[in-house]
Amino acid sequence: MVSTSVLIAAIRLGLPEAVGDEPATAEALANKVGAEVDTLTRLLDALECRGVFVRTSDGRYGHNEVSRLLREDDPNSVSYLVQWIGHPLLWPLWPRLDESIRTGEAVFPSIYGKYVFDYIHEDDPAAGMVLGRGMTQASNHTSDAIARSLDLTDATVVADIGGGQGQLLKTVLEHHPAVRGVLFDLPPVVARAHADLRTGPLADRVEIVGGDCRAEVPVVADVYLVKNVLEWDDESSVATLANVVASARPGARVVVIQSLTDHNPEPEVTTALDLLLLLNGAGHKHSTGQVRALLERGGLRYVGVRPTGTFLSSVEAVVPDPSR
Ligand SMILES: C[S@@+](CC[C@H](N)C(=O)[O-])C[C@H]1O[C@@H](n2cnc3c(N)ncnc32)[C@H](O)[C@@H]1O
Repeated sequence: MVSTSVLIAAIRLGLPEAVGDEPATAEALANKVGAEVDTLTRLLDALECRGVFVRTSDGRYGHNEVSRLLREDDPNSVSYLVQWIGHPLLWPLWPRLDESIRTGEAVFPSIYGKYVFDYIHEDDPAAGMVLGRGMTQASNHTSDAIARSLDLTDATVVADIGGGQGQLLKTVLEHHPAVRGVLFDLPPVVARAHADLRTGPLADRVEIVGGDCRAEVPVVADVYLVKNVLEWDDESSVATLANVVASARPGARVVVIQSLTDHNPEPEVTTALDLLLLLNGAGHKHSTGQVRALLERGGLRYVGVRPTGTFLSSVEAVVPDPSR
């Protein structure tokens, strides 16, 4: 709780931007961010002992590789991801973790009256903006390796279902110039799709479709990517996969990309997100076998699991031919 709070305070004060290339005194930083020197020093010390920023022998504060990630303009920035993980909307969920553990039910709807994505988009668009940018930043860390790992031989159209603002699809299209793309996500999310996909250099190779994948996936593609989406309740996951099968041609491939509990190089992160998924929407992280079961319940034929060169794995399946 304290670690998350000090990170968010630093971001909201603009501290990562205020610290330049050279270490600065607390006085200079307090001037820049508009804070009391004494209290800012206490925050800086709390950050420094947690590995964020360094303190020089003469008492100035400078960047290290962790604090740089909090700058919004850093190419590997996690500034919005941190703000989402510690968003005020999510704080009231954690004190009720025991309740979710006992019942297996989400806490979010009992506090806010709605499923998490509905609430965010209908009632708190500012939180939606933080979530969207946070997901894009997270995706930025893996999209290059994932795009390289995909076998798109014979694929003409690749769809990203629940593809967010299109970071992965953009990278896939950049790596595979002959491929066309479809970005599918909730309407308010695709309205904020990456500018390169909407109006930029890739726009003539992309179709952007807004909708609810639990109701319908009106997209025909050769390969359907489903990354970090099937981590809500199983019924929603199975409905999404069945909707892909209903629209797809036999032989189309479905590639589910997410961290797997049995291929888990970052258990601290994965188990924390697993519990947040439970609190938010009765969701969870899966093992390979659990993803396979979801794919088969959705009407797909399981093919296998492949590494992506990141902490995420890709679980592949094929739309069967009903005439065979
Ligand atoms: C954890 S994010 C993953 C985004 C993206 N695939 C990525 O890996 O960065 C889950 C995505 O599912 C989308 N989503 C949630 N409910 C949805 C629904 N009912 N229909 C379509 N997309 C949905 C969210 O808007 C969000 O973009």
